[in-house]
Amino acid sequence: MRIQNFPVDSRATLVKRCRISNDVNIITFECPAIAATAKPGNFVNIKVSDATHPLLRRPFSIHNVYSSFVEVMVKSIGLGTTQLCNTPEGFEVMMLGPLGNSFDLMSQPFHTAVLVSGGIGTAPMLFLEKTVVATGKEVIHLVGGRTKKDLLIQDLANCRISTDDGSAGLKGNVVELLHQELPDLKKKGLLKIFACGTNAMLKALAGFCIEHQLPCDLSLESVMGCGVGICYGCCVEVKDENGVSKTILLCQDGPIINSKSLAN
Ligand code: FES
Repeated sequence: MRIQNFPVDSRATLVKRCRISNDVNIITFECPAIAATAKPGNFVNIKVSDATHPLLRRPFSIHNVYSSFVEVMVKSIGLGTTQLCNTPEGFEVMMLGPLGNSFDLMSQPFHTAVLVSGGIGTAPMLFLEKTVVATGKEVIHLVGGRTKKDLLIQDLANCRISTDDGSAGLKGNVVELLHQELPDLKKKGLLKIFACGTNAMLKALAGFCIEHQLPCDLSLESVMGCGVGICYGCCVEVKDENGVSKTILLCQDGPIINSKSLAN
């Protein structure tokens, strides 16, 4: 069962910026109101500056939560994200959250959580790892990237990796890594897969999980506007339980969906 939060729009003070690769930073905000209720898989919408450009807030998965702090992993891919990565410590932004639903840790029994991620899709996995481990279950990460430099695995435990160019781990994608690791993973009892990455990767993973009867939650990506169901900027087509296409608002009915909703 996934429980929606009641989001708050709060001032958040940037207290730390940590560059972890050429274009990726982990940014820590003090924001007690959001830290108190956030769950793994939730996201926040951040107004990166007081100026009118960029006008819209930017959505970020919650990377980590501790005490009164909320961390996001930000890749510089445009004006808003670059501006946020250059924001000085001590600056205040407006942060709306926690938004969206969360990974489902309750509906299906499992002994081991397999956290599958690619590139910046690794963003929500630290918070999820900590939450699962706190319940006494094991976590194993399968992390993919184009090259060794694209692997964002700092602070994660139990990582098995793949790269497209073979510069680290298995040469191939992260779905192929899951295929390779599955016999070993199955020795650990009931598995549940939790994944975040490009929508193409998630679609391939959804098909794999259905074929192998693995329960799987996917965190989808979409353009976001308001984050609260008003602008209809985040419509995504998925399948209902009868295989019929339907449109959902990812900010309201996601970003986490069951893999069966994405498979053909
Ligand atoms: Fe506006 Fe979803 S982002 S409706």
